[in-house]
Amino acid sequence: MQSELRKQLLDAFTNAGESYLSGQYLAELIGCSRTAVWKHIEELRKEGFELEAVRKKGYRIIKTPEKVTADEVLLGLTTSFIGRNIHYEESVESTQKIAHNLASQDVPEGTVVIADEQKSGKGRMNRNWYSPKYTGVWMSLILKPNIPLTNAPQLTLLTAVAVAKGIEEVTEVIPEIKWPNDILIGGKKVTGILTELQAEADQIHSIIVGIGINVNQKIEDFSSEIKEKATSLFIEKGEIISRAALIRSIFKHFEKYYLLYLDQGFLPIKLLWESYAVSIGKTIKARTLTDVIEGKALGITNEGVLKIEDMSGSIHHVYSADIEL
Ligand code: BTN
Repeated sequence: MQSELRKQLLDAFTNAGESYLSGQYLAELIGCSRTAVWKHIEELRKEGFELEAVRKKGYRIIKTPEKVTADEVLLGLTTSFIGRNIHYEESVESTQKIAHNLASQDVPEGTVVIADEQKSGKGRMNRNWYSPKYTGVWMSLILKPNIPLTNAPQLTLLTAVAVAKGIEEVTEVIPEIKWPNDILIGGKKVTGILTELQAEADQIHSIIVGIGINVNQKIEDFSSEIKEKATSLFIEKGEIISRAALIRSIFKHFEKYYLLYLDQGFLPIKLLWESYAVSIGKTIKARTLTDVIEGKALGITNEGVLKIEDMSGSIHHVYSADIEL
């Protein structure tokens, strides 16, 4: 919808308060047909506005979408550095891009970029990540751990645990983790995590952890292709979830596990990760960039690498792959 038109519609609803505005009135106001008004109303619904439609009366807004601005998230945040410095944007290409720029400007560790919409969200293995407005959590966290480069994947697993805990705390739904870091509910993906590095030789400068969570999408918001594989917390729980509360909970768990990890290493995180793992002990197919390995997932190593035993009994160490269960 053109932004001018959208503004006209929203202003009219705001001025009308609790009163209904008829389709005819809105059509005249914005100079279009009643069918076009109906289409614009549907678009506002997709953005998270709740609009009530009553025959012979018209429309009124009963709930506006909750934005996840910095103030919203900071209110009640209990961490000391994770998520304390928030860069909020309503709409961006990708929060990863902004976080990469910030990371090279030496922002404090724990700085996060949060957006209400991504126009070209980035997924793993060069895929796109669908990030519609006001419905999900799209954020990138900047970390500066003093760890060897080879241990960086452990932080991806740590992130998956923190997000799983956050989802569990806020929704009371227990998710599962598919190696390395897809979070599933009922076998469908609800969260993706993309870890990117800024490093020189074997020295990590920053790690940018991108987290994408499908929160309040309704089933009809997903294309038929995505619907097969993905779900949202709203679909699973049956109620609107506060994105700000979810982000705060994830930050809280993240900070706790991150400090534990820096102090005691990967083992305690590994145990937590295993408690959510769905693929271990099952026959799986791992598609790496160059190969397909089929066999039993034995578990992860202390470095976070997946071990698979193929039909001939050979053990494969998988560092990066897509897993089919
Ligand atoms: C995956 O493919 O499973 C990873 C998806 C990661 C998506 C998140 S959304 C916030 C951040 N910004 C991006 O462009 N991608 C990540």
